[in-house]
Amino acid sequence: MTATVDEPTLTTLEERARAGTGTFGEDHLIVCDSLVRIYQSEGVEVQALQGLDLLVEQGELVAIVGASGSGKSTLLSVLSGLDVPTAGRVRVGDWDLMAMSARQRVDYRRSMVGFVWQQTARNLVPYLTSTENVAFPLALAGIRRRDRARRAAELLDVLGVGYCADRRPGQMSGGEQQRVAIAVGLANAPQVLFADEPTGELDTATSHDVLEGLRTVNRELGTTVVVVTHDPGVSEHVQRTVAIRDGRTSSEVVRRTQTHDDGTEHVVAEEFAVLDRAGRVQLPQEYRETLELAGRVRLALEESHVSVWPDRPRPAAAPAPAAPAPTAPAAVAPAEDPGAAPTPAAPRAPRQAAPTAGPDDAEETR
Ligand SMILES: Nc1ncnc2c1ncn2[C@@H]1O[C@H](COP(=O)(O)OP(=O)(O)OP(=O)(O)O)[C@@H](O)[C@H]1O
Ligand SMILES: [Mg+2]
Repeated sequence: MTATVDEPTLTTLEERARAGTGTFGEDHLIVCDSLVRIYQSEGVEVQALQGLDLLVEQGELVAIVGASGSGKSTLLSVLSGLDVPTAGRVRVGDWDLMAMSARQRVDYRRSMVGFVWQQTARNLVPYLTSTENVAFPLALAGIRRRDRARRAAELLDVLGVGYCADRRPGQMSGGEQQRVAIAVGLANAPQVLFADEPTGELDTATSHDVLEGLRTVNRELGTTVVVVTHDPGVSEHVQRTVAIRDGRTSSEVVRRTQTHDDGTEHVVAEEFAVLDRAGRVQLPQEYRETLELAGRVRLALEESHVSVWPDRPRPAAAPAPAAPAPTAPAAVAPAEDPGAAPTPAAPRAPRQAAPTAGPDDAEETR
C-alpha cells in the first residue's frame, strides 16, 4: 500500500502565508515591511529601496544615516505620504500608506505627520513672521485666531526660539530658522515628525541646537521623531541610529544607560547588524576586506553564535585561524544576548562540515 502524503491545499497555504506576515510590527507605530521603490528614468531602472524593513515604536526618536544615494530621502518621501512604493507594506498608525486615496493622503499629511526639510527656504514662508508661519497650517485647519497665537507661542518656546516670534526668516540664523521650522511641522500636533537632513546646511554647533530641539520635542511633547542626517554626531542625541545601505537597513546603533555597581550611570552605545526577515545580514565592508570574504563563505553554528569563514582551504596541519583583529570579527552574536561583546571570542574550527552559502543564499555579500 502506498503511503499518502497530506498535500497542503491552496487555502492552507494562504492561511500560513497570512499568519507568517500578519504579525510583523503589529504593535509598532511605523512599519515598513519589505519596501521596494523602483524609479524609471530614461529607460533605466533605479532600485532606491530594495526590500527595506524598519520598525519604529510610538515615542521613539530614531536617526537614519547612510551614504548619499542609499535611499534615505526615498524612505522619508514614502513615510510622509508624498510617494508610493512599488511593492511591500507600509503603515503609520492606522494609515495603510499603500492603500490611501488622494483625499486620505491629504488628511494623513495634515493630521498625522509633520515634516522639516533640509532647505531652510522650503520650510518657511519668507514674508511671514515665525508666529505667522506656525499659525498658517493652523488657519488651514480652521483653528481660531486666539488659539493659533497661543499654540505658536507655546511651540516656539519649547524649541527655545520664543525670542524670534516677530522675526521673518531673513532676520534669523539658519539654526533658528530650522527650529522655527520644527515648530511649524508640529503645529497640528502630528503623532510623527519626519525631518530630512534638517542640519544639512548648518555648522556643527548649530546642528547640535537643532538636534537638541528634536530631542526636546520628543521628550516633552511625546512626538515620535524620525530624522535623516549626515551628522556624524547624531547618535549622541538619539536612542537608536539606523544605517541604510543600498536601499536596506544594514546596521543599528543603540544607546542604553547602564548603572554600575557603584551607582554611577554610563551611556553605552552598541552596534548591531540587522538580520532581515529573509535571514540576510550585511557584513561590514572592513570585515569583508580584512578576511577577504567574497562570493562563497562557510557558516558554522556555534553554541551561542554563528561564525562566517572564508571559502579557502586551510593548510592541513595548521591550527584554527587566530583571533581576528578587533575591528574584524567574523562572528555574529545574537542581539538580545546582553553579554554579547562587540568583539566576539576567537572563532573555533567549525564542529562539522559547514554549509556553503552563496550570495543569493543566507549570506549577503556586495
Ligand atoms: N525621482 C527619481 N527618479 C529617478 N531616480 C531617483 C529619483 N529619486 C531618487 N532616485 C535615485 O534613488 C536612489 C536613492 O535616492 P535618495 O534620494 O533616496 O538617496 P539619499 O540616501 O537621500 O541620498 P542623499 O544623502 O544624497 O540625500 C539614488 O540612486 C537616486 O539617484
Ligand atoms: Mg536625501
